[in-house]
Amino acid sequence: MTDVTATPPTQPRPWLDATLPVEERIDLLMAEMTLAEKVGQTHQVANINPDDDAAEIASGRISSSLYASGATAGNERDEGVLVGNIDAAQRHAVEGSRLGIPLLFGRDVIHGHRTVAPIPLGIAASFDPDVAEEIGEIAAREAAVDGVAWTFTPMVDISEEPRWGRVAESLGETPVLSGRLAAGLIRGFQGDDPSDPDRLAACAKHFAGYGLAAGGRDYDTVSVGENTLRNLHLRPFRSAVDAGVLTVMAAFNDIDGIPMHAHEHLVREVLKGEWGFDGVVVADWNGIGQIVFQGVAADKREAAALAIRAGVDLDMVSGTYLEHLEELVESGEVDLALVDDAVRRVLRLKFRLGLFERPYAARPGASNAPTPSTRAAALRAAQAAHVLVKNDGVLPLGDEAGKVLLSGPFVDDGDALLGTWVLDGRGEEVVTPEAALRERLGDRVTVADGRFPDVTLMQARAADTSVLLLGEHRSRSGEAQSVVDIGLPPGQLELVRAAAAFGKPLVAVVYTGRPLDLTELLDLADAVLVVWHPGVEAGTALADILLGDAEPHGRLPMTFPLSTGHIPTSTHQRRTGRLIRADVDHQEGRYIDALTYPRLPFGFGLSYTTVDYGAPVLSSPTMTTDGSTTLTVTVTNTGERPCREVVQLYFRDPVAQVTRPLVELTDWALVDLEPGQAREVTFDVQASRFAYAGRDLTTRVDEGEIVLLTGPDAARLQPVSVTITSPKASS
Ligand code: BGC
Repeated sequence: MTDVTATPPTQPRPWLDATLPVEERIDLLMAEMTLAEKVGQTHQVANINPDDDAAEIASGRISSSLYASGATAGNERDEGVLVGNIDAAQRHAVEGSRLGIPLLFGRDVIHGHRTVAPIPLGIAASFDPDVAEEIGEIAAREAAVDGVAWTFTPMVDISEEPRWGRVAESLGETPVLSGRLAAGLIRGFQGDDPSDPDRLAACAKHFAGYGLAAGGRDYDTVSVGENTLRNLHLRPFRSAVDAGVLTVMAAFNDIDGIPMHAHEHLVREVLKGEWGFDGVVVADWNGIGQIVFQGVAADKREAAALAIRAGVDLDMVSGTYLEHLEELVESGEVDLALVDDAVRRVLRLKFRLGLFERPYAARPGASNAPTPSTRAAALRAAQAAHVLVKNDGVLPLGDEAGKVLLSGPFVDDGDALLGTWVLDGRGEEVVTPEAALRERLGDRVTVADGRFPDVTLMQARAADTSVLLLGEHRSRSGEAQSVVDIGLPPGQLELVRAAAAFGKPLVAVVYTGRPLDLTELLDLADAVLVVWHPGVEAGTALADILLGDAEPHGRLPMTFPLSTGHIPTSTHQRRTGRLIRADVDHQEGRYIDALTYPRLPFGFGLSYTTVDYGAPVLSSPTMTTDGSTTLTVTVTNTGERPCREVVQLYFRDPVAQVTRPLVELTDWALVDLEPGQAREVTFDVQASRFAYAGRDLTTRVDEGEIVLLTGPDAARLQPVSVTITSPKASS
């Protein structure tokens, strides 16, 4: 190891006085910093190496590292980017550099560290911020053991485009669901006090509009107006900022010609100015360097100038700030105040995380392997990710299911079920469907020989019930994993068709990172479960749901279109001059070769019972623009099994200054119902929920009618109208 002789501080370090307010500590520290040291604080490297990078770290030219994991020597893993030994690198910064500013270690801990939970889209299917919080909290605790202080989650890009592989990382297509679940994750990761050694800084990403990448092609251009941005895409970011997220990541895309890494209006003016965000805006991977590829800067020097002006504080790996900022300031092309602002924010983050007090991560003897209690939490989340989208009475499987044949590519492949963005989870720690079902059903389970589809079919003929595990491998969704066809992967439908021909009960389980075209599968199978990628408790959760030891209660966080050609389709499509009616939609100028409606609406999901919805009732049919009313709906479990119903509240704004969504989710409640039980669910409906950006882009609440709609999903809703009046009129 390179020996960097520790330079004992030659001057006092008053900023180490933790009793002082953070801003004062930053002032004291910045007063001592040279321009070169300031620029160093804007530079993040990947795969830091305590040996090779010792001199760079000690010279104060590195602020942060991306990917390193493993607190101490001996924790290094031999897996490409993981280099471990965080504390050795930290020692060079804290004890070897002039000012002793600690390094900040970031890593993508997206849906679990060692205890891998469902992918974010699966967490979104829970509609449960508590599930999100619990998963975040466990992931933070486990990652902290490996020295990680910062994670790059939650992703809150509004996702309405199933071809785009990154929908797997998202929290779905609606701003309120995405925003509340993001807040849950942020609470889980950051806690009340992010300097708690078991917490991390979170990061809302990718700011902004990334979900609109043209054609669903990752990294592609985005054309969207500011009204749609404000009324839709920026909202979950605002929720994340309001929830106290410490960092925000800029997006790879441009918006209407302006790369987000150079977008002064959205980053500096809106995010930092209008919303008062005082945390760090981090670039995405080489995002500043890519401004050159986007053709908006001639070279990296110009890119650096654009990005620092736009308000990107920390350069992820492009090196442009390190190479050029100092000279740009000295030449007068970049105002020092811009660099100071970036540095202040980075230092603020480091102080908030308690890194100056507690720079080292080693915890001798600490383990972050999954435990029964972390597994129990992952199991709850995995169960909640099971969305039952069809059931002709075959589920749950009882004794009459007889001999069960398990087939398809995921029967015994734990790793495939971990989902995208798993850097630390281990395939061998996944309970596979085969293992869990064998444990429960013993000899009643046969596993098909997947190598020979015709043998599988012979086995299916001999079985009483077939359970087909279909869908996408974890590597088929996620970053840079877009597809042109959202059908099931090749070969799977053939298997379904052949198995269905036997006329025996057929259950299809679909593991996926995106909405798929399930139209034919839904016709052929007797029951269909959409499960996303469920994580370490995949098999246990599946067995619980299939056998009725747990009730399915997940709901779709994205609309499932009828086919690829129907994209985009989502709840927030805006009104047009030709409204669609279900009975005559072919006459209303949509497709001539297909119906327009989605195959499965947003919010959809069945349980093993039936639930009746009464009509929504308002406590008052009017409210003032600054007031509220309450809406009550009675839900009754009319079947024979308990359930957890997701009672959903949507609204429509019939007349506004701009075109508004056909319906928009605004609230929901998770309601447990025993068989025969009825419960009243009451929503507090504040007029401020109906605020939107009007023609001049400022936020307004209009007087007039709002239609509130309640029901089990976005397509089965009962309306009631409320009139919003001016406060004066009512006083
Ligand atoms: C992704 C980010 C991720 C970053 C660091 C980028 O390619 O877009 O979401 O956090 O890499 O791994």
